[in-house]
Amino acid sequence: MPCLTGISILYQCRPEGGQGDVHPIYDAAIAWTGDRIAWVGPAAQLPAAFRDGPAFDAGGRTVIPGLIDCHTHLAFAGWRAEEFEQKLKGASYLEIARAGGGIVSTVRKTREAPAEALVTRCLDHLGRMLALGVTTVEAKSGYGLDLANELKLLEVYRDVASRCTQRLVPTLLAAHTTPPEYKDRRADYVRLVIDEIIPAAARAGLARFCDVFVEETAFSIDDARAIFAAGRRLGLVPKLHADQITDTGGAALAAEVGAVSADHLERSTDSGLRAMAGAGVVAVTLPLASLYLNQPPVQARRLRESGVRVAVATDFNPGSAPSYDLPLALMLACTLQRMTPAEALKGATAWAAHAIGEGAEVGSLLPGRRADLVLLEAESVEQWLYHYRPNCCAAVVAGGQAVVGALSPA
Ligand code: NIG
Ligand code: FE
Repeated sequence: MPCLTGISILYQCRPEGGQGDVHPIYDAAIAWTGDRIAWVGPAAQLPAAFRDGPAFDAGGRTVIPGLIDCHTHLAFAGWRAEEFEQKLKGASYLEIARAGGGIVSTVRKTREAPAEALVTRCLDHLGRMLALGVTTVEAKSGYGLDLANELKLLEVYRDVASRCTQRLVPTLLAAHTTPPEYKDRRADYVRLVIDEIIPAAARAGLARFCDVFVEETAFSIDDARAIFAAGRRLGLVPKLHADQITDTGGAALAAEVGAVSADHLERSTDSGLRAMAGAGVVAVTLPLASLYLNQPPVQARRLRESGVRVAVATDFNPGSAPSYDLPLALMLACTLQRMTPAEALKGATAWAAHAIGEGAEVGSLLPGRRADLVLLEAESVEQWLYHYRPNCCAAVVAGGQAVVGALSPA
């Protein structure tokens, strides 16, 4: 079985301990068989049984678990650079949305795009994300907003999942905003989501999670409760966009409905965050979205005080976060949210895995987990996120195979 030695520090990121506990092992070794980790520990203790396969040398590099982007809107057509300029001149996200821009303008383009074109774009983005060390990606629908187009996006993800290197975890976000043909008839659209879109997506096994954008211009707490109940009945686990622009009580709702995660949280109250911690809901923070929308970022100190587990993701989408660069999001989690590099790393590994129900598979370098790991050209996680460079990733192993760079023979 393959084994990798010559690792100056390996961060195990076990799913236990506090946010900053990333379980470093110095002078480490890791061995795997097929797509699973078989052994990990100090190289001096590597059992002889694990030395008989191909041996590779990390050349003193740092090893972390394959990174997990637990919140993306991966499949969309077009971009919205013109809105970027409007926002820089002072228009707010909600003003742009009210004037027919924002999510709805991407919906128009995405409905027109053939599925094959969306597949090609997703594969292109995923290839670039892989080169940055991202081996698991959550991907939301939400730019279809009718039965046929929401299913089209989820089918795109099924096709992409069979052709990409990453593990792809699909989420139904039919409740992203009210589509133009339902203008002023939001309740009717909520019925369509509950009566038709959720059942069709669940019956076809196309999604694991059901997401709702809970916001003044999108859906209310009561809409979300009804949508989550419908999803739950058919096996879709709730997750939500909560308190991004205004505090609508999304964090408390996440706790009430037992969501796997609540995401954004820029405007959440302390009591909402505490309720999430008590219910085991992961707080997914999205510093790229805070940065692009010029929103005060959620502060690590408040998250720490609440005791909630924190994940960090890109929110990759054509409006509020037009970047799939997860290491950049981690650096911003440090500089804007005031997380330590170790806290940010835990947020893109062990706790990100929990935010998408994948904690038993990925996110930690432990025997039995998938052999997804990244070799970094940085002497520590602190150095990696401090001396920010375009890409520090020297090699990526996914499912036991070197998929980026090559492993040097020992
Ligand atoms: O997560 N908040 C809602 N949805 C996205 C924005 C999507 C868009 O602007 O196209 C977000 O920020
Ligand atoms: Fe989002």
